[in-house]
Amino acid sequence: MAKTKTTFFCQNCGTQYSQWMGQCKTCGEWNTIVEEVIDKDEKEKPWQSDENRSQAEAGIRNIKEIPENSESRIDTGNGELNRVLGGGIVNGSVVLMGGEPGIGKSTLMLQVALHLKNIKTLYVSGEESGSQIRLRAERIGIESDSCFVLTETNTQKIFKQLKKIEPQLVVIDSIQTLNTNYVESSPGSISQIRECASELIRYSKETNVPVILIGHITKEGVIAGPKILEHMVDVVLQFEGDRNHIYRLLRAIKNRFGSTSELGIYEMQGSGLREVTNPSEVLISKRDEPLSGNAIAATLEGIRPMLIEIQSLVSSAVYGTPQRSATGFDLKRLNMLLAVLEKRAGFQLGAKDVFLNITGGIRVDDPAIDLAVITAILSSNMDVPLPDNCCFAGEVGLSGEIRAVNRVEQRISEAEKLGFDVIFVSKYNKVKTADYSIRIQTVAKVNDLVKMLF
Ligand code: TYD
Ligand code: MG
Repeated sequence: MAKTKTTFFCQNCGTQYSQWMGQCKTCGEWNTIVEEVIDKDEKEKPWQSDENRSQAEAGIRNIKEIPENSESRIDTGNGELNRVLGGGIVNGSVVLMGGEPGIGKSTLMLQVALHLKNIKTLYVSGEESGSQIRLRAERIGIESDSCFVLTETNTQKIFKQLKKIEPQLVVIDSIQTLNTNYVESSPGSISQIRECASELIRYSKETNVPVILIGHITKEGVIAGPKILEHMVDVVLQFEGDRNHIYRLLRAIKNRFGSTSELGIYEMQGSGLREVTNPSEVLISKRDEPLSGNAIAATLEGIRPMLIEIQSLVSSAVYGTPQRSATGFDLKRLNMLLAVLEKRAGFQLGAKDVFLNITGGIRVDDPAIDLAVITAILSSNMDVPLPDNCCFAGEVGLSGEIRAVNRVEQRISEAEKLGFDVIFVSKYNKVKTADYSIRIQTVAKVNDLVKMLF
């Protein structure tokens, strides 16, 4: 009888130990280390033909002798997804798509599979039954004749089916439901996830069929069994957003075939996810009369310029310690900007509650929105609405100076395209004012801005 081998894994971070411990040394969590049975039998690879086996065993070669494979990509037919991936799914690549439950991962991937004409796709679901998937597919609309569904969780059985139907794209929903015969621990445990993922990665590399793995994210925002999967796959995508908002953001966290600064925006509708190609127009609310406390920032997500609305409310503190709260913006940065306003521009905000909100439920890390943030705060503080049709792009430094921002031309062009009359930028951004029809107002200091606007 084969000797069973066991080892201990931290269920939080995936670190392997030779013996049990109360606390994981790597992530510091208590009671997360669990014994799991691993079995080191020589694995069969049912999908492998003799030809690609010999290629895999070819050994050392001079780099110049390796055939150049210009990466061929599958156009997913979904503009936002294509852009985030860097132009489509690269054949032979493995994409991990993470997100909280209910955010729309299955919907997005099924939608891609259903709309890919002329490409044979296999959607493997371990979570939903065939009829549930059909129901969802009806809502989204079935355009492809070659989208196949398999409800199975055992990887060996999945590989047998893969060999039979030879798909050109495989979606696994989700990696946490899979189990392999070579590991005895329960589905969802670290060793199962690791082994199933590595089997699928081997399958993908040897057959050149791209595989998309859907993975659930735990409460802390990490993909369960996370670190181990992130470095194994080629692309890690994250699908995020507030479940109560209709907008969903798709980001690449890692991409071996493209940049990681791209952002895809979707809107959840009754009939699936709709691509949002003009984010500025949906993120800025149209109003009849100007309201105090609102300012528009020209920001960049990746290389895409986007105008977003910042709302602020400043009121006298009810309790001794004033409250500071920010949604979609870094709270520490908000506190810093408030300190700058207090010290450099003489505003007494120490006894005021300050609330800040970026509309649309999105999160922005771009420092160029600082200028709009302080303007929104000042506008609410003085209860003076800002002039209609103006927007801002500038970073605020600790001494109250307005600093230059990157790619200011793109921000200005976007503001111009959307019909804004004035954009406030840093004096240190060298801009050719004559090139634009929009008026470009330069500011050097927070004080100058206050004098101009209020
Ligand atoms: P789902 O793709 O199941 O999420 P995940 O796989 O990430 O767990 O989508 C969940 C939500 O999306 C669900 O609450 C219902 C909503 N939804 C729509 O609003 N419209 C649709 O067309 C579909 C298919 C789902
Ligand atoms: Mg799902």
